Amino acid sequence: MAGNVDALFIFLLIVTGLMTLLIFCTLIYFAARYRARPGVLAEQIEGSIPLEITWSIIPLGVFMMIFLWGAVVYFKERTPPRDATEVYVVAKQWMWKLEHAEGQREINELHVPVGRDVKLIMTSQDVIHSFYIPAFRIKQDVLPGRYTIEWFHPTKPGTYHLFCAEYCGTMHSGMIGDIVVMEPAQYEAWMSGTPSGPLSVAGEKIFAELGCSTCHRSDTQGRGPNLLGVFGRPVQLEDGRTVTADENYIRESILDPGAKVVAGFKPVMPTFQGLVSEEQVNALVAYVKSLSQPVNQPGVKAAPGQVLLPKNPPGGNQVQ
Ligand code: CUA
Repeated sequence: MAGNVDALFIFLLIVTGLMTLLIFCTLIYFAARYRARPGVLAEQIEGSIPLEITWSIIPLGVFMMIFLWGAVVYFKERTPPRDATEVYVVAKQWMWKLEHAEGQREINELHVPVGRDVKLIMTSQDVIHSFYIPAFRIKQDVLPGRYTIEWFHPTKPGTYHLFCAEYCGTMHSGMIGDIVVMEPAQYEAWMSGTPSGPLSVAGEKIFAELGCSTCHRSDTQGRGPNLLGVFGRPVQLEDGRTVTADENYIRESILDPGAKVVAGFKPVMPTFQGLVSEEQVNALVAYVKSLSQPVNQPGVKAAPGQVLLPKNPPGGNQVQ
């Protein structure tokens, strides 16, 4: 992404630089050429349509080009690849807590292998923060009460600065960290040396402990919707709307279950606001996601106890 952003930025610098030069040179030339002289009267010119059209059309073309180029870069930056490795980020005053889908937990440090797409699913425990990695040219606000997403594709091993880029209190400037990009072999070694268990398995445990499984059963008899294969799919709601079951929808359904009730079900689920931590919500989201993935995510090792999809789950089992 850095190359794309830099190319656009350098282009903007060149265009504005050339325009500045052009304007000032013309200004100086005209000031000298048409300076006031005794006895010479200025001629009044009413206007020139060809001139006006020319200086409207040419800038329009240049601006549209900048707009299109910027849009292409923007949409690329905003759309994480489907098979990206997922990392959950919880921001709080004043630290970054990161948890890999494989279960490794880190604080103010993120280890990733070179050459793999990494998607960050981020939320805040308190105020607004912003996850900023200048070297990767990416920055995204991290908000309480919802998930925001950002992604990157590290191409060069090394240690890169991580900053909080939203003023979040007295220790804001200390809310910094490192993104450590490692060679794949080195990364594997780091992974195996870090205690972990897949996040989805932790989520499954929480799911059972909170009693979610008594209503959200894998047969069709539960008081809540069957969650198999739900993630990434459109969901028909009681009020006629259709929403996509993404991270934010799952999260909202845990913390504010009455907000978007699935068609055919009663709003009987109690809220879990205040009963589960942000980390637990992340684990639950990871678990619900795992119910829609017939194949393990890249990098996620099959673990004992991991829920496997039945051969023919309702509605098929393609990953969306
Ligand atoms: Cu967190 Cu500034």
